[in-house]
Amino acid sequence: MCGIVGYVGRSEAAPILLDGLRRLEYRGYDSAGVAIVNGKGVETRKCAGRIAELANLMAEQPPSGNYGISHTRWATHGKVTDDNAHPHFDASGKLALVHNGVIENYQALKEELIRDGDADFVSDTDTEVLAHLIGKLYDTSGRGNGNTPPQSEKSRLVAAVRAALQQVIGTYGIAVVHSDIPDFMIGARRGSPLVLGVGKEENFLASDVSAIVAYTRDAVYLNDFDIVAVERDRFEISSLAGGGADYRVSKVEFTAEDIGKGDFPHYMLKEIFEQPNSVRDAMRGRLSSEECSAKLGGLNMTPAELRDVERIVVTGCGTALHAGRIGEYLIEQLAQVPTEAEFASEFRHRNTPMIGNTLVFAISQSGETADTLGALRESKRKGYRTLGICNNVASTIARESDGGVYMHAGPEIGVAATKSFTSQVVILTLVALLLGRMRHLSTADGSEIIEALEALPGQIEQVLKLSDSIKAVAKKYASANGMLFFGRQHNYPVALEAALKLKEITYLFAEGHPSAELKHGIIALIRPDLPSVFIAPDDAVFSKNLNNMEQVKARKGPIICVTSDGCAEKLKGIADDVISVPRTLDFISPILTVIPLQLFAYHLAVELGRDVDKPRNLAKSVTVE
Ligand code: G6P
Repeated sequence: MCGIVGYVGRSEAAPILLDGLRRLEYRGYDSAGVAIVNGKGVETRKCAGRIAELANLMAEQPPSGNYGISHTRWATHGKVTDDNAHPHFDASGKLALVHNGVIENYQALKEELIRDGDADFVSDTDTEVLAHLIGKLYDTSGRGNGNTPPQSEKSRLVAAVRAALQQVIGTYGIAVVHSDIPDFMIGARRGSPLVLGVGKEENFLASDVSAIVAYTRDAVYLNDFDIVAVERDRFEISSLAGGGADYRVSKVEFTAEDIGKGDFPHYMLKEIFEQPNSVRDAMRGRLSSEECSAKLGGLNMTPAELRDVERIVVTGCGTALHAGRIGEYLIEQLAQVPTEAEFASEFRHRNTPMIGNTLVFAISQSGETADTLGALRESKRKGYRTLGICNNVASTIARESDGGVYMHAGPEIGVAATKSFTSQVVILTLVALLLGRMRHLSTADGSEIIEALEALPGQIEQVLKLSDSIKAVAKKYASANGMLFFGRQHNYPVALEAALKLKEITYLFAEGHPSAELKHGIIALIRPDLPSVFIAPDDAVFSKNLNNMEQVKARKGPIICVTSDGCAEKLKGIADDVISVPRTLDFISPILTVIPLQLFAYHLAVELGRDVDKPRNLAKSVTVE
């Protein structure tokens, strides 16, 4: 959702900024730009399109200088044009600014600036308003008069940023440079992430540490309302209200190699193939054979508090919510605690009745999704214990929650979430096991679940071996205009997730439904050129799924079925293509059934020539509402 990189140091800024932007391209790729400052002024290159196009532009006319800012955009206000690409400038043309977020009152601020004759706007963005406002405040204040001594240019710029942001309603992560103030940049955040990278005689700003981890692993994760003034060899963090701010320099837990593609053609494929490890890491140290239960110390809850939980709300967006929907089935089945999975964007604005002992889980890979963060804050405001299930340990959701469980899945770069989904489902299984063992689950039940969980990494290896045969199935259906996905019980959310994966990266129309809903309307869509994908492992509802498949077959609809090893015979004459995964407990099966469907969407997208890692119109982390 827009990526920012800033640099102040002794090296040429251009290659560092470009390299950082490439790492952040998953956050948006509508347009990109840089502003690099040298003794002569600000050199700007910006254009609509991908970072590769900006790189071409920069290669034609290389900008030179040792400090600068840059941006990759996911458009919110204003079309995707060269003019709307960041950086944006103030009236003097000396102050450049990049922004991630939404200035909600930009229209009112813009009208005021125009009325006062302070600005000519060249873009339709909300961001340009902020550049003009800061520039105006910088030019008109702090120069001293009879009563007050003049402030330094650096202090004046910090004061101008502070004063401007105090007028802003909305969210922002920003970076600002001014050509009159050498080797200096300012960053600030509210609602959009911003990290300070601390190097040796060089410092960085970035929306995400992955942009700068090749240069430094020392990072300060800024808090909302922090303003940081950055020079080559020092930085100062203050708060929006004035005064100092607390901060901590932390070590980034991954390296630049971890965020490479390795030998894989796409991040998405690499991440699908990482699942034996990511699933293992999600449960590492969290299974107790002795207690036949899970150990989740990060929840920060005593056994008595866990036992007293009367209701659970699981919230998130996109793939994370689909994992939450599986959690709803899991927790109710294993622990009999009433559980509801709810879109974060709905939950935060709805007046959901919540009883006293309601526990809220906010699930988010990035930990920065604006809607999920909003839901977390609303839940906390109402006084409910709110826990996070996040991958990004330094994220806002991880930091603002009352406790939680980290996924430890490693960086996920492909825009379509894959390994984060299976890690989230594993963690929700652990939560269900823990709550179940505090209630009625026996030690034998607990041991059986632990055994099934421990077998998963090996079973996932087996599923991954099917990649080539799944590719062949995907090729066979490459001319389809759309697809339907069906599943029941624990595998109904897998149908939703599989349809989402297909939509995201192939742009084909796809829907997920509970299999039995077929006959209540969806059946009208069935025709010979619309394939239906059934997720039907050999579980308690296998025969019911079989009935639903017959209903599709009778109407000449092609069927692909993801089932359990040993079921192919029963599907003969019904399913046109069968993909079999190893057997496991019914409620653990989604972790195995989703993987062939991730591979199916991947291979189909490649076959259709789609940009798998950077699909049209999407961004990995959506930090606006
Ligand atoms: C975006 C992405 C989805 C993702 C969702 C939630 O919409 O395109 O792939 O599932 O955000 O992301 P989160 O980081 O909160 O898990």
